[in-house]
Amino acid sequence: MRVTVAAGDIATTNAPAIVVNLFEGVTSPGGGTGAVDAALGGAISQLIAQGDIKGKEGEVTLLHSLGRVPAPRVVVLGLGKQESFSIHRVRDLSAKLCRSLRAAGVREAATIAHGAGIAGLEPDACAQAIAEGAILGTYRFLRHKGRPDPDLVEFEALTIVEHNGANVAALEAGVARGTVIAGAANLARDLENEPANHLTPTDFAARAVASGEEAGYAVEVYDRPWMEEKRMGSLLSVANGSVQPPKFVVMRYNGDPSSKEVLAFVGKGITFDSGGISLKPAQGMEDMKGDMSGAASVVAALQAIAKLGAKVNVLGVVGATENMPSGSATKPGDVVTAMNGVTIEVVNTDAEGRLILADELSYACEQGATRIVDIATLTGAISIALGDVAMGVMTNNAEWLAKLEAAGARAGEKLWELPLFDEYKEQIKSKVADIKNTGGRNAGSITAALFLREFVGDTPWIHVDMAGVDNYEKEKGILVPGASGIPVRTLVELAIGEASA
Ligand code: BES
Ligand code: MN
Ligand code: ZN
Repeated sequence: MRVTVAAGDIATTNAPAIVVNLFEGVTSPGGGTGAVDAALGGAISQLIAQGDIKGKEGEVTLLHSLGRVPAPRVVVLGLGKQESFSIHRVRDLSAKLCRSLRAAGVREAATIAHGAGIAGLEPDACAQAIAEGAILGTYRFLRHKGRPDPDLVEFEALTIVEHNGANVAALEAGVARGTVIAGAANLARDLENEPANHLTPTDFAARAVASGEEAGYAVEVYDRPWMEEKRMGSLLSVANGSVQPPKFVVMRYNGDPSSKEVLAFVGKGITFDSGGISLKPAQGMEDMKGDMSGAASVVAALQAIAKLGAKVNVLGVVGATENMPSGSATKPGDVVTAMNGVTIEVVNTDAEGRLILADELSYACEQGATRIVDIATLTGAISIALGDVAMGVMTNNAEWLAKLEAAGARAGEKLWELPLFDEYKEQIKSKVADIKNTGGRNAGSITAALFLREFVGDTPWIHVDMAGVDNYEKEKGILVPGASGIPVRTLVELAIGEASA
């Protein structure tokens, strides 16, 4: 899928389809839509008058031009109500439009820049959103489909056609940024969708190395002996049950060598979570191939940040391992010691994410992280609290969280804070060790975050529990069935926001 920009007039553009748009309630369209309407002898305004085109959000009307303009098809995209229009709607509409074109067997189209006309949004932001929508919305994971499907059309190219030559450079910059960011989110989706037998910790590390080589950031991969030397007893206790060797993946992008600030992204990289000896029920266990979504988001964010050349230092930390039951697996009641010396009673081996994050967070601190965001599919409880609408976020530093909230708002990815009141600490007290790894069913996402807080010291830190938003069944806007690629765009926005100009 390619998105490009061309100077020209949409009405005279020769493409398999040209796309114009319409706000709900507009009866005589102007701009590019007006020009195409005129060239079609008023066909669009007639269809509006007849009530066939309403401009409702996501309405896609395909007209055959029958020689009245060079393009054989004219598509009118409904933008919905103008008063509630936003850049996020542009992104979602672009996704829906491209899927509709694909379903109609169209491989290429030219479009006007939705939002840059009477809606008055910035051209570069519109172009970025259009590119992101097109690339994210047409994503499919077909790697393991052995039999080619002759009916499966790929939507290959979208060109944004702009009549005002002065806007072209801004549109091109937006498309370039959107292409990088959506490409990174699709990398996260690829990793998340990959079955666990095709994405072991070793495979994950290799994919991170490949991304680093492509995008220009450094990737170090460490094995079990190194983790033993580092005394990562908490992480290793999760890896104990698996025949797949664990990998510790460290990514470094130093975009601002003159600064001592280091932004750390720390991801949960459980390539399969069976629950271990505290085995999960069979129903839905296959979804646990996606328990490395946090780690995938970290690799993807580093890829985009490096490709964009942001002037910011970013450290990526991923502990990758399976969580499996076996004769060598950690047992409920075992006590393990994390890298920072904290002892942990493992009450439930299915609360493994916090066990690997404990050592990942300690390591990030040791490496000089000045700000930390960890990203993890950590608890089922977060779905009970927030459903599949928002990520849960928890912090030891309100100012740092405000930055992530602003980044999430810019990206259009929702997050919501849960409190870390001291009273909850009672739930993770252990009789035999410093803390235990579960605090019971009540406030399960909060007690998980309180556990993690033990490993960051005073460093400003945010925990992102993305277990409710990592996977969707249906397509909606930029979301498609399978992995969501959330919160890659938020992480990239955060890093760009932290970058020096
Ligand atoms: N990976 C799971 C959390 C999860 C659940 C992610 C559903 C996505 C969808 C995590 O490792 C886990 O098993 N958490 C337990 C913690 C409990 C044992 C304290 C949970 O949420 O049940
Ligand atoms: Mn688990
Ligand atoms: Zn897990």
